[in-house]
Amino acid sequence: MSGYYIRLYKASDYHTVRDIFARGIVEHTGAGCRHTLTLPRIWMPSVVVMGLPLLIAGSLLTSILAGTIILGLIYYINRRPNSLYVSFSLRDDMLDIQKYYLQCEDRCFWVAESDREIVGMVAAAPFLHNGGEKQMELKRLSVPRRHRGKGIGKALCRTVIDFARRRGYKAVVLNTPVLKTSSFYLYEKMGFRKSYYFYPDYFGTRYMDIEYVIYQYDIQE
Ligand SMILES: CC(C)(COP(=O)(O)OP(=O)(O)OC[C@H]1O[C@@H](n2cnc3c(N)ncnc32)[C@H](O)[C@@H]1OP(=O)(O)O)[C@@H](O)C(=O)NCCC(=O)NCCS
Repeated sequence: MSGYYIRLYKASDYHTVRDIFARGIVEHTGAGCRHTLTLPRIWMPSVVVMGLPLLIAGSLLTSILAGTIILGLIYYINRRPNSLYVSFSLRDDMLDIQKYYLQCEDRCFWVAESDREIVGMVAAAPFLHNGGEKQMELKRLSVPRRHRGKGIGKALCRTVIDFARRRGYKAVVLNTPVLKTSSFYLYEKMGFRKSYYFYPDYFGTRYMDIEYVIYQYDIQE
């Protein structure tokens, strides 16, 4: 890949950015499952449930079946918040990106382009909260896998921070799963700090420790 540059979103980017966004979010499912499987409250009973058919009835097949059902359930519960979030977003702000982000005060949407290919995307919109300081939300950050590790994600973050600074915002915030994914390293390196934690309101997320965090970057004067 030769160099890349960051520009405003245009209508012809529509299908590509929706696809990059959806893939980026669903990707968190794998990291979520790996995290869930490290929890003693998950793996201990799972081992027992899988081992019992083998010990009592000597049935390896039933053990494998039990293991497959458990893994399927873990995958389903981890994937559900991600896929619901994607379908909600695609019908919400990502439905008419031009109208939602580029025809509204204090909102914006950028893509990174290299060799006529979209190699990253990010959006900004005022964060809705009850009073207090003006905060800008960094949204829809995603870089396709094959273009990662080249500084595109950081450059897109800086684009949002500069945009927020120019418009008089005091902080940039974002929410993301509490997982050791590449976004975790990116935000930590950019100087974001963890502001507060929450669990999405879906069945099983608390038990499986599928937690989210609001990261905050304070803009210096
Ligand atoms: C998060 C994401 C945008 C990062 O994009 P990127 O272009 O690869 O990011 P950059 O190359 O600018 O920088 C990432 C930084 O994190 C570091 N990093 C990434 N993965 C790491 C890991 N596993 N261990 C240690 N550091 C890591 C990189 O080394 C780099 O820091 P450095 O420049 O100081 O070396 C990309 O991984 C992505 O799209 N992920 C899926 C979608 C997603 O999670 N979006 C965020 C939703 S909240």
